[in-house]
Amino acid sequence: MNLNSYKKELISKLSSIMPKHEAISELDFILSEHFNLNKKDLLFSPEKIIPVKPELESIVNTRVSLQKPLQYIINKASFMGDIYYVDERVLIPRPETEILVNEVLKYANDKTKILEIGTGSGCIAISLAKLLKNKNITTSDISKKALEVAMKNAKTLCSSLKINFVHSNLFENIKDKFDIIVSNPPYIDKKLEAGIQKEVLDFEPKNALFADDSGLYFYKQIIQQAPKYLKNKGILAFEAGINQSKEIEKIMIENGFSKIIIIPDLSSIDRVVLGSYNFIRKG
Ligand SMILES: C[S@@+](CC[C@H](N)C(=O)[O-])C[C@H]1O[C@@H](n2cnc3c(N)ncnc32)[C@H](O)[C@@H]1O
Repeated sequence: MNLNSYKKELISKLSSIMPKHEAISELDFILSEHFNLNKKDLLFSPEKIIPVKPELESIVNTRVSLQKPLQYIINKASFMGDIYYVDERVLIPRPETEILVNEVLKYANDKTKILEIGTGSGCIAISLAKLLKNKNITTSDISKKALEVAMKNAKTLCSSLKINFVHSNLFENIKDKFDIIVSNPPYIDKKLEAGIQKEVLDFEPKNALFADDSGLYFYKQIIQQAPKYLKNKGILAFEAGINQSKEIEKIMIENGFSKIIIIPDLSSIDRVVLGSYNFIRKG
């Protein structure tokens, strides 16, 4: 078997539903993360490819025919250098969310009490716990199914750090006060559902994607309720959708937050909004 032409054949199949550079990186991801094959194996060891050929072709065919996200086919997604288990119960972690994690890291240490709202796969809470060696992280979700996935990932990726998982609609079951509240809430405007990419709409959980009020519903709810759950000078940090940062900043200021910082992603889209809360003493 000529490995080079075999690889080209698979890339060409994948390229029927995505740009070629994405096809190349998806194939590399399948080979390295699913089959544990490195670039050297691919160049020089056809004997390692032959046994995995049927499964490899089945993955590529499913990817192309159903347009199902690769991460849901192989149950693996990469985030902050770790591999997370994912399935259709949770949103696939996105690279933009790494910007949010990196920002929160700047304000936190191993003692910082952190609450995350909307854990999904657990990628934000688990990354923070691991990178800060922090045992004071609480993370919540309204979806019991998402919490099952997040707990599975915590067990695999950071079992010694004991994250506190809470089933909660926003702050409903949250009792404590925190130094930092972080969230990547559902933020796609419900009215735009029809224009969303098929592979997102058909497979990713709707309650992880869409929000009322031009996509701002969860930001408003969290900003209004957060002061009760934040310590003095506590920080609220969000991932923001396209063109939402200014509106989020405005709502934060109206609700007593200051020192707002907005951070763009690599495509110059304002992606992260952070602010600090100062108690206003009454009387
Ligand atoms: C955009 S996903 C983020 C998942 C993960 N944190 C990430 O960044 O990949 C939003 C998450 O919020 C959860 N969610 C939706 N409504 C919620 C609510 N009312 N209270 C708590 N979590 C909610 C969803 O189930 C979903 O897991």
